[in-house]
Amino acid sequence: MKPLPILLLAAVMTATAAPRTEPSLRELFKAHFDIGFGVGVLDGPRTALLRHHASVVSCENDLKARSLRPAPDTWSWEKADAWLAWAESTGARPIGHTLVWCYMMPPWLEEKVKAGGLTKEQALAWQDDHIRRVLGRYGTRVRTWDVVNEALSDDSAPDAPLLRKDPWSDLCGTDYIVAAFRSARAAAPDAKLLYNDYNLELPHKRARLFRLLKLLEEAGCRPDAVGIQGHYNLESPKLEDLEATIREIHAAGYPVHITELDVSVYRWEGGANLQNNGPDGKPTQPVHQELPPELHERLAAQYRRLFEVFLRHADKIERVGFWNTDDGNTWLNNWPVKGRPNHPLLFDRNLQPKPAFHAITGLAGTAPQP
Ligand code: GLA
Repeated sequence: MKPLPILLLAAVMTATAAPRTEPSLRELFKAHFDIGFGVGVLDGPRTALLRHHASVVSCENDLKARSLRPAPDTWSWEKADAWLAWAESTGARPIGHTLVWCYMMPPWLEEKVKAGGLTKEQALAWQDDHIRRVLGRYGTRVRTWDVVNEALSDDSAPDAPLLRKDPWSDLCGTDYIVAAFRSARAAAPDAKLLYNDYNLELPHKRARLFRLLKLLEEAGCRPDAVGIQGHYNLESPKLEDLEATIREIHAAGYPVHITELDVSVYRWEGGANLQNNGPDGKPTQPVHQELPPELHERLAAQYRRLFEVFLRHADKIERVGFWNTDDGNTWLNNWPVKGRPNHPLLFDRNLQPKPAFHAITGLAGTAPQP
């Protein structure tokens, strides 16, 4: 290992952290499902939070091809090595996220594809080599992998294409997904391999998921489980849609993983990189530096409803994973509006449990055993 990760890890491990006194989510829900967090290397207090609550940790960014492949013929393993060493030091099981995410391929590769500089065969060979090298390095230590992330189109038109439009899927079609599962299975035969996506609650996207799963089954490349990301807000998803998706995935023979749960306190207004300004230049909705009590209550109620669903279907769900640890450490502070403070998690910016935390821990004791 190179000097930087050792120093980084040492700094992280030696930072002081007050002991956690609230009940452990891992312990409360251990009869039902694993509790996970999607994170990078964390500081001391956040590492303590995670040691207390997590059964599994998913790698937020460092295993993505964008991070591992900064330039053609260049591999950059340092961050991923450091993340895995840190993850293992927490006692939680590490999860690999993600081998192929065609929407976020390394920019140089995307440019090459756009410029017509790669045939489909060359693209699939690149992908196969990528997957085999990553699993060759980490496959014995990381036993669960998101193999393909976010491949499906959001278009609700009945005749819309199956796949999200981007250079990789335009070039390779569904063959890249089949090939990814084939490569991953060959490189790590005993690992748990997931297909992972968002909005799978929506009936049109759910239908697409089953078309994709059928196609993979027919190609002899069945995933082992399906990941429902779970990026929600105070108004969505419709719980009956979420339940239908969980039921149908299970009925098709796949365990469900909730992989990236968070609940934005803002209304969804579409798109990325919004300015939060209406045509008159004023914010389209109030910005909350602090979360008002009324919204704390609504957030708690939404988490309670979601966990009631998860507990009701605990026999179908293997993991409920949050995306990040606390409100001070969430991608939603910068997306879709840069710099707008969000409050989507169970712990506030001081890492203290919020009413939403107490809403779900209250459920754990009353939940039926699976
Ligand atoms: C998606 C991806 C994650 C992450 C989040 C935003 O859900 O699967 O890897 O990038 O977006 O943080």
